[in-house]
Formats: sequence, C-alpha cells, structure tokens
Amino acid sequence: MKFIIDTDPGTDDAVAILIALAHFTDEELLAITTVGGNVGVDVGTRNALRILEHANRNSIPVYKGESKPLNRDLLTAEWVHGTDGLNGVGFPEPSKSEESIGAVDYITELLKNSDEKITICVLGPMTNIGKVLNTNPELAKNIDQIIFMGGGAGFGNHTPVAEFNILVDPEAAKVVLSSGAKLVMMGLDVTHQAISTSERLNTIHETGTTTGEYLVGLMGSLADLEIVKQKFPDGTPVHDAFVTAYLVDCSLTTGEVTNVEVEVDSELTLGQTVVDTNHISGRNKNVHWMNKVDDEKLFNIITNTSKLLP
Ligand code: BDR
Ligand code: CA
Repeated sequence: MKFIIDTDPGTDDAVAILIALAHFTDEELLAITTVGGNVGVDVGTRNALRILEHANRNSIPVYKGESKPLNRDLLTAEWVHGTDGLNGVGFPEPSKSEESIGAVDYITELLKNSDEKITICVLGPMTNIGKVLNTNPELAKNIDQIIFMGGGAGFGNHTPVAEFNILVDPEAAKVVLSSGAKLVMMGLDVTHQAISTSERLNTIHETGTTTGEYLVGLMGSLADLEIVKQKFPDGTPVHDAFVTAYLVDCSLTTGEVTNVEVEVDSELTLGQTVVDTNHISGRNKNVHWMNKVDDEKLFNIITNTSKLLP
C-alpha cells in the first residue's frame, strides 16, 4: 500500500500523523500535504515538519497546499487547537523546509505517474483533493481509496448539522463525493464513540516516551474546553486518528455503503452531510459510511504509537 496524508495540523491531525509514522515505512507513507483549516496553511505546514523532526523522519517530503477553500474565505479553529495549532505541545523546530512545488501539483503528478493506485488520507478540508479532481476527474481511477475524517449523519460539531472539515470547504467535499473514487467516511458518528479518558491517557503516559508525553498533551488539552466538557465529561474524541488507525487495522470500524451528499447552498444547513442511513434516496451508493467502532482498538494503536516512536 502507498498513501499520502492530507492535513491541517491540528492536535488530532498530529495524533493521526504519529500513528502513521509509527506503523508505516517511508516506502508506504509517500508524503504529507497540507491545507488551510484548523490553522493557516503556513502554520500547519510548519507543524507537519515539526512532527517529522521529532520522529526522525525528515525523509518524508511535505508539500504545502491551498491556503483557502475553493470558493470561500478560510474558517479556522485556533480556539480549539491554539494559535500554534498544537496547543503548545513542544515538538522541536524543523530542520528542513517544505518542497518547492505545491500540494495540488504534487498530488496530480503522483496520481498520473504512479504504477500503483494511491490511498489518500484526508484529515482536513478537502480543498487540495477537490482541486485535483476538479481539474483532472479521470485521476479518480488512480486512487485506491480516500479515507476522510468529516461529516456526520444528522449532526455537526461546528453548526448544529455541519462538521468542521466539510463546513470549511463544502464545494471541495462535493467534488470528492461525486468523483467516483472509493470513499471511506470517518465522521462524528464514529469519532464521538471513542473518548480519550484520563485512564487511557495515563496508560499512554506510562509508556514513558517523549511521543507518549506529546500524545497526552495533544489529546488532553482539548478536554479543558468548556464546550467539550459539557458533552464529554472525561476526555475528548480524537477525530483524525481514526483515519490512519484504520490503515493499521481495518477492523477498527464497520459501517455500510450508502449515499452521502453535501449541502452547499443553504445558509442554515451549509456543510451538512446528508447520509442516506435508511437507503431511501435511490441515489448512487458512493460512500462506505462508518458507524460502529471498537474504541479499545483505537487506544491500543495510540498506545503502541508511543512505544514505537522516540
Ligand atoms: C475535524 O476538525 C478539525 O478541527 C479536526 O482536526 C478534525 O479534522 C473534526 O471536526
Ligand atoms: Ca484535521
């Protein structure tokens, strides 16, 4: 398997990237591409480089992506992830820079030239992938699967019905959802079922590694937000971790194949993913929508991550 991670790091993005670095080689994880989302793309790109520096994996290239959504202004989430995007967790300064070409050009060339299909893990707004597939729709056939964190069936986390990643760039999500590529959706339906409780954080802390300390910091910081505490009294979801943990063990989640569309016009429901949970739309079954999770598996993978990295 060959894959790339498209991301807006982001605390939970950082957890997802660490999982991938711990479990996959440089021959498998080809690159990290960044996008404006939780933080501006410059800060996010630097965060990707900081994470690689910590893991001694500067061999993996980082390509800076789009700074704003296809048709809209960028909406960021520093109130969740801190102005540095990593909530003050002490990843080192990067000793290298991003590559000279941009993420959209890199992904386009990769899909055109690879002799095997590529898996794309999307942890942020879908702007980069949406741009690639908008310009080159035929490249969808060179994608093995797109596993994305985004959306939810009937509820949101940024508006009553919209999840952040989809809300930021609904037009890009629409391109991806209608691309014909194989899609795996890790939405709030599964991410809200696996919580980083203090007991789980303790287990990770006890591994004694710097990575363990960083993981606890990344997952623990969000738990202090008042709005999070109201819904999750002990711990928080670790949304993006699902995407790379699924690559490690695809029995992590199960679901069903159904139709998912995104609202791009309505002011009230902008960015809502309309998931055909009852299979009544008659529309194309375009997404493997995940709705059940083995939460112990997720936290075992995260704990192992802290043991496998410095
Ligand atoms: C998603 O939004 C971002 O804030 C997180 O990094 C995650 O990708 C959760 O809604
Ligand atoms: Ca993210």
